[in-house]
Amino acid sequence: MQPFTTLLAFTTLLTAATAQYVGLNTSQEFNIRTCLKPNQPGKERFDNLWLVGHHSGAGQSDAVFEPTRTNVTDAGYLTPANQTTASGEALYNQMFNLGNPFPWQLEMMYNTAPYGAWEPVRIQAGGLDKGDEAEGWVFLNSTGLQYSGSGSGFNGWLVCEWWLQMPQLFYRVGAGLYNESAPTPSSCADVYLMPEYI
Ligand SMILES: *[C@@H]1O[C@H](CO)[C@@H](O)[C@H](O)[C@H]1NC(C)=O
Ligand SMILES: *[C@@H]1O[C@H](CO)[C@@H](O)[C@H](O)[C@H]1NC(C)=O
Ligand SMILES: *[C@@H]1O[C@H](CO)[C@@H](O)[C@H](O)[C@H]1NC(C)=O
Ligand SMILES: *[C@@H]1O[C@H](CO)[C@@H](O)[C@H](O)[C@H]1NC(C)=O
Ligand SMILES: *[C@@H]1O[C@H](CO)[C@@H](O)[C@H](O)[C@H]1NC(C)=O
Repeated sequence: MQPFTTLLAFTTLLTAATAQYVGLNTSQEFNIRTCLKPNQPGKERFDNLWLVGHHSGAGQSDAVFEPTRTNVTDAGYLTPANQTTASGEALYNQMFNLGNPFPWQLEMMYNTAPYGAWEPVRIQAGGLDKGDEAEGWVFLNSTGLQYSGSGSGFNGWLVCEWWLQMPQLFYRVGAGLYNESAPTPSSCADVYLMPEYI
């Protein structure tokens, strides 16, 4: 099952990222599990899936899901973003410890399908800004991981079986940028992303 872990040799990125991050704050690591939002009959296959990175290039992976929690399930943790929401909620970067000496970071790929109703999500090495993603500021509340960064707004998480032929993480863009009532496609489900502490 090792294709899901992204233990890559990408020397330039490794050097840059290692220099920037000495030691990871892994004090409260968690795995991320889907919880199906109510009133979605026939979508049970999208419930209780576990988030992992799926290699999609040097230092980058698509955010996908596996059916079981294993020691390959990516360990997430939060670091302060030193930002707050308009209502004063502290914001964090959603980081991942994939067993490397440098971190990986959740990134919202808001420009993949400009003006689309949803966009994919990646897990990128080093948290480096590659120019085509939004900063992944998040916070946690009782319905799990909430995005609150720049780019395209946020109207919830979506899991779809599309071009990777496995459940993949997308998000609905915010109100005003697209019709927020866009129906959920038959191959997708609306989910919460819940932290399950390790
Ligand atoms: C994961 O667990 C399996 C079975 O216990 C073990 O063989 C494997 O070495 C573990 N892998 C890692 C990366 O810890
Ligand atoms: C480490 O992460 C925890 C959980 O997010 C946080 O409460 C704590 O302040 C962090 N510690 C440092 C030194 O950043
Ligand atoms: C947040 O502030 C702390 C303390 O000043 C600093 O060490 C850290 O690098 C800052 N984090 C970011 C993402 O700017
Ligand atoms: C959690 O935060 C989201 C995004 O701000 C909000 O829509 C939701 O109502 C919050 N959940 C609870 C239980 O407060
Ligand atoms: C938004 O989508 C819903 C559901 O398809 C539709 O009923 C509604 O007319 C749409 N609204 C706009 C402004 O296009």
